[in-house]
Amino acid sequence: MFSLSSIQSNLSTEKFGKEIVYFEEIGSTNEVAKRLARQGKPEGLLVLSDRQTNGKGCYGKRWFSPGKVGLYCSLILRPLLPLAGIQQLTLLAGAAVLDTIYKETSLRSNLKWPNDVLIDGRKVCGILTETAFYKSKVEFAALGIGVNINNTRNQFQDEIYSSATSLKIETGKKISREKFLSSFLSFWELRYSSLLENGHKEIIQFWRDHNDTLGRKVTISQGTRLISGLAKDIDDDGNLLVQLGNGAIAKVSSGELRWANPKDVMSKPNKCATRHQGAKKSEP
Ligand code: BTN
Repeated sequence: MFSLSSIQSNLSTEKFGKEIVYFEEIGSTNEVAKRLARQGKPEGLLVLSDRQTNGKGCYGKRWFSPGKVGLYCSLILRPLLPLAGIQQLTLLAGAAVLDTIYKETSLRSNLKWPNDVLIDGRKVCGILTETAFYKSKVEFAALGIGVNINNTRNQFQDEIYSSATSLKIETGKKISREKFLSSFLSFWELRYSSLLENGHKEIIQFWRDHNDTLGRKVTISQGTRLISGLAKDIDDDGNLLVQLGNGAIAKVSSGELRWANPKDVMSKPNKCATRHQGAKKSEP
């Protein structure tokens, strides 16, 4: 169970998480957030559940959501962003998760395009941004975050056993889900207002400095379509730029990314190993 009073006593935000809709069990917090957004609930409202019976991952996958150990929450957003900029929200949430992991555990983590947070190559967090549009403007977005916080290794299902990790596995310590959430909301608020006020440059640079993707040979699946090549960069909107075998650059806006084995990694300095990941200090 979550202690809402503990979340609120640690909360230093002006908007995000001030109103929390809490469930001990729900199908998917994203589904509830979208329903509430359609009913007109404001930006900043947080839907939180101790466990999910139908947690949604990207590309139609499920997000394993056992009780007492994970963080499953969704924020309602109403950003004044053009459609093309919607990918920036997912990158921004990933950055705020990196900030939070560093603050709460001193662990360094990395971003995998477009929506994963990894520690030493294992997934600790997934982000699912679902958006409703009206006349080419974003009407609302449900920003869903799933973090493996206190899972033990044998609590992961077979299919994710070797590719997933948790903050408890990495630190050997139990981490307060409430503190993690309050801290995430503060970092998120800071980064979100900076994006809306100052534009995307800061988040794009942060992502470039803290990713596990660039310089690798990757394959992105978009349903039956596969795009393979070298991950060169991301553009201002957060699209991945992939150099194909014929030298052409493909701009990829979404899809499930896999990379070849580690020996195919091109040389790339891992700035994450030497840089602080706080929202302010990590600026270039
Ligand atoms: C992924 O990596 O595939 C994205 C996973 C997103 C999971 C979170 S948990 C909270 C929110 N509610 C959901 O049903 N999904 C997201």
